[in-house]
Amino acid sequence: MSDMNKEFAGQVALVTGAASGIGRAVALLLHARGASVVAEDRNAIVQNLARPGLVPLVADIIEDGAAEAAVAMAIKHFGRLDILVNNAGIILNKLLIDMTREEWERIQHVNVTAAFLHAREAVKAMIPNGAGAIVNIASYAAYQSFPTISAYAASKGALAQLTRTLALEVIDHGIRVNAVGSGDVVTNILNEIVDDGPAFLASHGETTPIKRAAQPEEIAEVVAFLASSRASYMVGSVVMADGGMSVTAG
Ligand SMILES: NC(=O)c1ccc[n+]([C@@H]2O[C@H](COP(=O)([O-])OP(=O)(O)OC[C@H]3O[C@@H](n4cnc5c(N)ncnc54)[C@H](O)[C@@H]3O)[C@@H](O)[C@H]2O)c1
Repeated sequence: MSDMNKEFAGQVALVTGAASGIGRAVALLLHARGASVVAEDRNAIVQNLARPGLVPLVADIIEDGAAEAAVAMAIKHFGRLDILVNNAGIILNKLLIDMTREEWERIQHVNVTAAFLHAREAVKAMIPNGAGAIVNIASYAAYQSFPTISAYAASKGALAQLTRTLALEVIDHGIRVNAVGSGDVVTNILNEIVDDGPAFLASHGETTPIKRAAQPEEIAEVVAFLASSRASYMVGSVVMADGGMSVTAG
């Protein structure tokens, strides 16, 4: 078995939504395994991650020029870009009949359009290297749903198809594009929707076959695998990491 401790040595990663939850865990795991990392988030708390080889970038990923600036930062600080993790995402719990166009569009912009923009800029930087890996954070909601998450589920379904289609477009350049279909993870994503977001997710996770929600580090391990050369034959996959949620019949 190869030594995973520094398997990303010499590689440069850009992680969106790195101030919290899964993105934070991904940024720290890739860095711990040797990658240089640009950690992008609109929340200035991301600056707490600053350390040698890890540069925070406070930015809203859907702003014009944000993707270009993030990739430019990777190249300015570390000379190249090898890995993009499109992780930042937001959710909306609302019946479709009550949803405004602005609410719908905000979810699509953050969860899909920003991933498209970051992937487009990343691919431009990766093509000259003839190598690269992009990992998108999708969800079980790419395939399953329940009332009140139409905007979110549609965005994750779109992200899954963006993953597959871009994978076909760039594999000839040695760039692999894959996604993780995450289940419930104890993070801050529901904080604006319920009183105690992490507790709600922990409790909801108890309904899965594994009877618990994931910790962000468990999803980060799957992301790291897909970003690594260990996943050299994985192209356009949406890998479910959901405690069995997507396979149970009830
Ligand atoms: N937590 C879960 O149960 C779960 C399940 C399935 C999928 N996911 C997905 O995992 C990803 C990460 O979510 P999380 O659970 O870690 O949530 P989180 O809220 O803990 O972290 C998301 C981060 O993204 C950042 N962000 C949001 N919008 C941004 C923007 N416009 N520009 C820059 N940064 C922005 C936030 O500031 C935050 O730091 C999301 O795509 C989410 O849909 C989460």
